Amino acid sequence: MDQNKLKQEAAQKAAEFVEDGMTIGLGTGSTVYYLVEAIAQRVKEEHLNLTGVATSVRTRKQAESLGIPMKDLDEVAQIDLTIDGADEVDKHFQGIKGGGRAHLIEKIVAINSARNIWIVDETKLVDTLGKFPLPLEVIPFGSGKLLQRLKDEGLKPAYRLNDDGTKALTDSKNYIIDLHLGRIEHPHLLAEWLNKQVGVVEHGLFLDLVKTVVVGTTHGPEILDAHRG
Ligand code: 5RP
Repeated sequence: MDQNKLKQEAAQKAAEFVEDGMTIGLGTGSTVYYLVEAIAQRVKEEHLNLTGVATSVRTRKQAESLGIPMKDLDEVAQIDLTIDGADEVDKHFQGIKGGGRAHLIEKIVAINSARNIWIVDETKLVDTLGKFPLPLEVIPFGSGKLLQRLKDEGLKPAYRLNDDGTKALTDSKNYIIDLHLGRIEHPHLLAEWLNKQVGVVEHGLFLDLVKTVVVGTTHGPEILDAHRG
């Protein structure tokens, strides 16, 4: 089955977790695109009273265009549930995000959410994280020096570029450096080290944040729950 269909089915299943009255965090990416459509449909058909908090300009625009009332994070008391995509998820529910350049805002929204759910197609499930390049959002000033430092550490960094060869910018006007690691044997140790690097605003390792993953599979959407094993 085509990957987009699996993404759509996972997104539609996850939209069932949304309840009337909730404040919902909305992630970013092609899977979340389907989620926003599915939530907007429920708002319309079931007259749900929801407030959305977006993790990117594109998600906010889509949600508003479909009639989901949106607020900024600081305008809400807390987020009840955030649903987001991911680039890789391992069997311990640890993940890599940031393929869509939004992981800084996504992580801020995630840590302010009572519950986080990821929606992925089955190709995103991995034994070991790291095949997908690990994104870092970095301050443009001095980023060449930072890139060299990362190179010296053997972390195989590369700027994320647009099609025209210019450096890709995030919504916060920072650059992305991707680490082409292949395998990340110790995600917590790497995250700790990256947290200490001046100029790195945020890395794409999302550790210990998610307990539920909705996976689009060729046999239909499956809900993986860390509590149920
Ligand atoms: C954006 C993200 C996305 O959630 C991730 O890249 C997955 O995207 P998609 O649903 O398009 O495969 O982290 O920064």
